[in-house]
Amino acid sequence: MKIMVVGGGGREHAIIKKLKENPKAETIYALPGNGGIARDALCVPIKATDIEAIVKFAAENRIDYAVVAPDDPLVMGLVDELEAIGIPCFGPNRRAAVIEGSKAFSKELMKKYGIPTAVYEIFDDMEKALAFVDHASVPVVVKADGLALGKGVIIAADREEARSAVRSIMGDKLFGKSGDKVVIEEYLEGPEVSVLSFTDGKTVVPMVSSMDHKRALDGDRGLNTGGMGTVAPNPYYTPEVAAECMEKIFLPTIRAMNAEDRTFKGCLYFGLMITKDGPKVIEYNCRFGDPETQVVLPLLKSDLLDVMTAVTEERLSEVKVEFSDESVACVIIASGGYPQKYEKGFEITIPEEAADAVYVAGAVEKDGKLYTSGGRVLGVARVAGDLKEALRLAYADAEKISFEGSFMRHDIGARALKALEN
Ligand code: AMP
Ligand code: GLY
Repeated sequence: MKIMVVGGGGREHAIIKKLKENPKAETIYALPGNGGIARDALCVPIKATDIEAIVKFAAENRIDYAVVAPDDPLVMGLVDELEAIGIPCFGPNRRAAVIEGSKAFSKELMKKYGIPTAVYEIFDDMEKALAFVDHASVPVVVKADGLALGKGVIIAADREEARSAVRSIMGDKLFGKSGDKVVIEEYLEGPEVSVLSFTDGKTVVPMVSSMDHKRALDGDRGLNTGGMGTVAPNPYYTPEVAAECMEKIFLPTIRAMNAEDRTFKGCLYFGLMITKDGPKVIEYNCRFGDPETQVVLPLLKSDLLDVMTAVTEERLSEVKVEFSDESVACVIIASGGYPQKYEKGFEITIPEEAADAVYVAGAVEKDGKLYTSGGRVLGVARVAGDLKEALRLAYADAEKISFEGSFMRHDIGARALKALEN
């Protein structure tokens, strides 16, 4: 089979490494991939958002199966375009991807179908949003409606901060058209859990839970990032919580999307907060998480390509999806300055013994050497019998990898370890 994976980050590297385990995967193309992915797939320099060029490439190269990993091409309708020329895909179509593409849509969906989430209001008029904020209890959360590289959420400690968030999103258009509408919602408290799931619109199979670490610095300080590290499983996702999520969130969401004629097929990501009133949805993503995928897929014992094609062919209930009960920790190594301004082009050294554990996100290859080209440069993920050991191994590898100005958090998994001890 000729497989095409659209995207070029650590998540795509994890997906490709797993797909490669299936001998049917003769050729795997990555569009655009990156310098690290180039060791595991054939990279083609086409941007993940260049829908026209991707469709042309897929047709010309007689691609048998496509995996569309990032949010933008999914929301733009790449799956619809590929299916229109007869290429089966893993990933939701445009109508279903709106569950991530519009926060206003997802909030209305949850309200209509009684799925637990933070209480909210939606505004397309800045003056009305500002007037609402004047009476809101704080902290309050202000979110741009559309995609904003994970940066469109502002947790305002007081009303002044909330007002300036509304002005920068709606007035200054900090996130462009994504800020034509805002969602203003209640601030929730509790541990966060990420649950990725496979679904074909009929069956939903949650994968092992995970925990992301979104802030740039130790102790959850610093700016929000795309994610500085992950662990799996997440100790706050107990069997009781899992059962409640299945009944009140996962199945109702799948049914709601069907009822709206927006059947979701692919990986549906539930961003949850375990509040004192039970689990609530913080956000839906229409794709695998990054860097959640790097800790979840290493635990998948079943064949990823078989599971993905079963999703596409709507026969997920017929395949076994099994996970190992081990633990994984992933530590991200980033460029100095990320998530703000940073320099690129530094040589990365990865010792041979760590290579298998590395998922490259932002690097280019030149003359057999890797050079930094992004904010999050790579992740090191290690599997072990328990979380403590997984963290020890991941950090031991991470310490051996370096490039000028690199930094990482040193407390990935600390909260999870503490929760396990209690
Ligand atoms: P999102 O882009 O929706 O995942 O939001 C980014 C982060 O903001 C989440 O991972 C949470 O940590 C935080 N967040 C979002 N919504 C809320 C909320 N209603 N209450 C508290 N924290 C929130
Ligand atoms: N790590 C969070 C996300 O992928 O959205």
